[in-house]
Amino acid sequence: MDSSSRSFRTLIKFLVVASAFHAVISVQLEDIAEICSGNFITMDYNATWEQVDPVTNYFIPLASKYFGYHVAQNMYKTQEFNYLTQDHLENGCLSVSKAERRAGWELMTVDGFGGKNFTIRMVRTEIPKLFRFHFPYPNEGLTGYASIALSDNQSYNVFDFCFDNGLRSFAVVTTTGPLSAIHLEVVKAHLKALGFKEEHFLYARTSDCEIETEPSPAPPSIKYPKYFIATNILHPTFFWSKKK
Ligand SMILES: *[C@@H]1O[C@H](CO)[C@@H](O)[C@H](O)[C@H]1NC(C)=O
Ligand SMILES: *[C@@H]1O[C@H](CO)[C@@H](O)[C@H](O)[C@H]1NC(C)=O
Ligand SMILES: *[C@@H]1O[C@H](CO)[C@@H](O)[C@H](O)[C@H]1NC(C)=O
Repeated sequence: MDSSSRSFRTLIKFLVVASAFHAVISVQLEDIAEICSGNFITMDYNATWEQVDPVTNYFIPLASKYFGYHVAQNMYKTQEFNYLTQDHLENGCLSVSKAERRAGWELMTVDGFGGKNFTIRMVRTEIPKLFRFHFPYPNEGLTGYASIALSDNQSYNVFDFCFDNGLRSFAVVTTTGPLSAIHLEVVKAHLKALGFKEEHFLYARTSDCEIETEPSPAPPSIKYPKYFIATNILHPTFFWSKKK
């Protein structure tokens, strides 16, 4: 399992192909963002998943587009992209591995986009199945609450992420790579019941990722509104307002 998962990652190829036939549809944050409903619906799940297991690689075969976008922001350390397509998000080949516990946080490395990585932190709250999480970018990072909305207790967990800035996303984390057809249908139905829009589902490859040209970060722009809300002094939150 572990050696084959590692070779999945090394299979990522960046092909520089100047193709006049490739239709480029750029992904804009304001078109894919979803807003937290405020409620979490959680199910019992297998708590073995919370143990530190540096051997296991977890894959992300399905997520919301905003989750993929935010991962890309963290990988490329940029808030906006001059060039980022749906193809990039589908070919990120994201995997997560647990690194260690430090100061009460569980540190997890997210790998993808052809050898990039960053570390997310999660910590259990006093409420069962509810976690506090932290992505490192932008600035001191984005924090929020994550809950496990659905699990089969064996091969997948569905994480519902609500960022403190009000944006919502989800990620399906598996030990097996792609979800089986039956699990995929169950997970999709559950996510739609939670209010996620199917048009914003990101069906991501977990192996054999190919990207023609790398995403291109945009230089910091003054037209982009940046406000900080002081809900948490340790981790100020990036505020972002949705297009009407
Ligand atoms: C998962 O495990 C929990 C606790 O062990 C149990 O309560 C729950 O019914 C299980 N769920 C499924 C889908 O097997
Ligand atoms: C919980 O997950 C572990 C690791 O995947 C597995 O060995 C164990 O059988 C699971 N427990 C249940 C009740 O499914
Ligand atoms: C993350 O990427 C950096 C730069 O490529 C590398 O030095 C580091 O070992 C990677 N970290 C992990 C945990 O894979």
